[in-house]
Amino acid sequence: MVLQANRTRIVTQRITTFDEFRDAVSAYRLPRVLLVALELDLFTTVGDRSWTIPDLAKQLKVSERGLSILCRNLAAVGILQKKGPSYKNSRLGATALNIDHSAYRGGYLNLIKSHWEDWIRLLESVRSGLPIDHDTPDSPDYRRQFTWAMHHRTLEIAPAIAAQIPLAGSQTLLDLGGGPGTYAMAFLAKHPLLRATICDREAAIEVAKEIADTHKARRRLSYLPLDFSNEAIPGTYDVIWYSNVLHIYSPEENQAIFRRVGAALRPGGDSSSKTRFCMIATVCIQ
Ligand SMILES: C[S@@+](CC[C@H](N)C(=O)[O-])C[C@H]1O[C@@H](n2cnc3c(N)ncnc32)[C@H](O)[C@@H]1O
Repeated sequence: MVLQANRTRIVTQRITTFDEFRDAVSAYRLPRVLLVALELDLFTTVGDRSWTIPDLAKQLKVSERGLSILCRNLAAVGILQKKGPSYKNSRLGATALNIDHSAYRGGYLNLIKSHWEDWIRLLESVRSGLPIDHDTPDSPDYRRQFTWAMHHRTLEIAPAIAAQIPLAGSQTLLDLGGGPGTYAMAFLAKHPLLRATICDREAAIEVAKEIADTHKARRRLSYLPLDFSNEAIPGTYDVIWYSNVLHIYSPEENQAIFRRVGAALRPGGDSSSKTRFCMIATVCIQ
């Protein structure tokens, strides 16, 4: 079964006229407005009160004119709300984008900011044919931050996807490259008899454990801290879930991984316990 995130329009938008070309090229403007607001921690500063531009500019140590233009654009997309001369946060600004709120998605916001820097270097990647970070070693610190980012990105998507995957009759699931285990937890929440195992690097597994500690279903969760590219996977599973990992490897590398991890799939029995390998792919330039 292959699932594809429904985001293909981002990279398959057709451009046939010069106007469409200009609009597509200029689409960086809104992302820049949003990213500058994040860089200023604007949503955190605005918090749950109403601000005039002079007061907010003083607080953020920026010019009134610059801030006024920025806030006007943020209000145009509804992420700030304008009433008379004052601005306040939308619900989104006050929660997911506000460091002081428990729903803050800082891990993912930091990743988005770093992606902008990476995409600026696309030309290098096109010239070399290699990912921008191909020579950056995978440090535990980076892996931790990245794993939180994956959790913050997937919080809502995982339960929605888990609701669509028919796992009735399956008893064991391996979340291969499962990172924070957000998908594994969503499957466990949906299927009370299922047991899941998250396989990832040690630093990612540490984050997965912290997250699982807040869930009742953690008793049905176990962990495999290993590198699945060159280490054998102990045990067998009814289902292997491989989400947002496909794009990290070349087609040849993925095929080699599938051949190796295929040995961990329990041979299929009756129709209610067929073994499956599920993939969900992110849309990247690949
Ligand atoms: C983009 S994240 C996706 C995380 C999760 N599956 C999700 O959909 O949110 C890719 C994950 O695969 C893990 N990964 C990639 N190659 C791996 C390998 N060879 N061994 C163990 N984990 C690996 C990474 O550490 C990372 O946590």
